[in-house]
Amino acid sequence: MAIVHMKNIVKRYGSHLALDHVDLDIGEGEILGLLGPNGAGKTTLIHALAGIVGFDSGEINVFGKEQQTNLMDIKRQIGLVTQEITVFTDLSAQENLEFFGGIYGLKGEKLKERIDETLAFVGLTEHANKLPTKFSGGMQRRLNIACALVHQPKFLIMDEPTVGIDPQSRNHILETIRQLNEQGTTILYTTHYMEEVQNLATRVVIMDKGHVIADGTIPELVHKIQHEEKIKLEVEEPSDMLLEKLRKLEGVKQVSLHGKEIHIISQVGAGNLDRALSIAKDFGEIRSVSAEKPTLEDVFLTLTGKRLRDREEE
Ligand SMILES: Nc1ncnc2c1ncn2[C@@H]1O[C@H](COP(=O)(O)OP(=O)(O)OP(=O)(O)O)[C@@H](O)[C@H]1O
Ligand SMILES: [Mg+2]
Repeated sequence: MAIVHMKNIVKRYGSHLALDHVDLDIGEGEILGLLGPNGAGKTTLIHALAGIVGFDSGEINVFGKEQQTNLMDIKRQIGLVTQEITVFTDLSAQENLEFFGGIYGLKGEKLKERIDETLAFVGLTEHANKLPTKFSGGMQRRLNIACALVHQPKFLIMDEPTVGIDPQSRNHILETIRQLNEQGTTILYTTHYMEEVQNLATRVVIMDKGHVIADGTIPELVHKIQHEEKIKLEVEEPSDMLLEKLRKLEGVKQVSLHGKEIHIISQVGAGNLDRALSIAKDFGEIRSVSAEKPTLEDVFLTLTGKRLRDREEE
């Protein structure tokens, strides 16, 4: 059963088309990974879905109800973890949860119980009375998540919840997502980390320039480019001219540089392994060569022409 149904959504910022006729359904119980390069429209899509920003045309249904006329009712059942940390820095972790629980109508014993449960769930029980300014980046992220969970939403939306944090906090957050999903929560989250999507998501949607350009399970997406292969060529001196020559080969879809390794996505059977080798030889020593099946990262690269980037590396 679909709990989210978005049809033909258009959102403009001035003359810029941030969402260009987007269709998206989300089934109950899914963990949907939303991928896309910077500025693809992921945050805009999430904000339109959660009713944080309006949209110009199209239709959104959540839990079977038309979103714009049932917004308050829908919002009560959604948890939104924003891309920027939005906790109060002058309130302790506990007080932050009191505030957010209060917004959702929790009070008294029930509120207290939920705060204790939520703090334990994100591993912040011992830090309940501290100010977030005393927290590490990972702890702040976990508190940010807790604020969206205190009212036990059926549907949790997370916008890059694991950006810029230590591996331990990151694993903790991923484990949190898994457990919530096992308890029945439907999850939509955006990330730039391909391995997270590969490990966690039951379905992947890739966006670029306000469009959904791919939608399916990981095997389905990889199958789409199954007739392609990835040739890896490690060379002594990768030059722009060499990359340009490789790009001009017939059947080559994508050429990218990773350190000294050139990755070529090419049609299977186009004979490009031999051709690439002979071209590269003219440019200097070849250290190694291999050909393999494409991965999800290659699907992304082939469809968007861009590599996912880690914010920490920017
Ligand atoms: N409030 C705004 N006013 C004007 N333009 C905006 C606004 N918010 C977003 N945009 C533009 O809309 C496009 C989509 O932005 P959005 O933040 O949705 O992308 P994103 O996929 O979330 O990117 P990122 O990976 O960097 O978070 C971008 O070109 C952005 O500059
Ligand atoms: Mg964003």
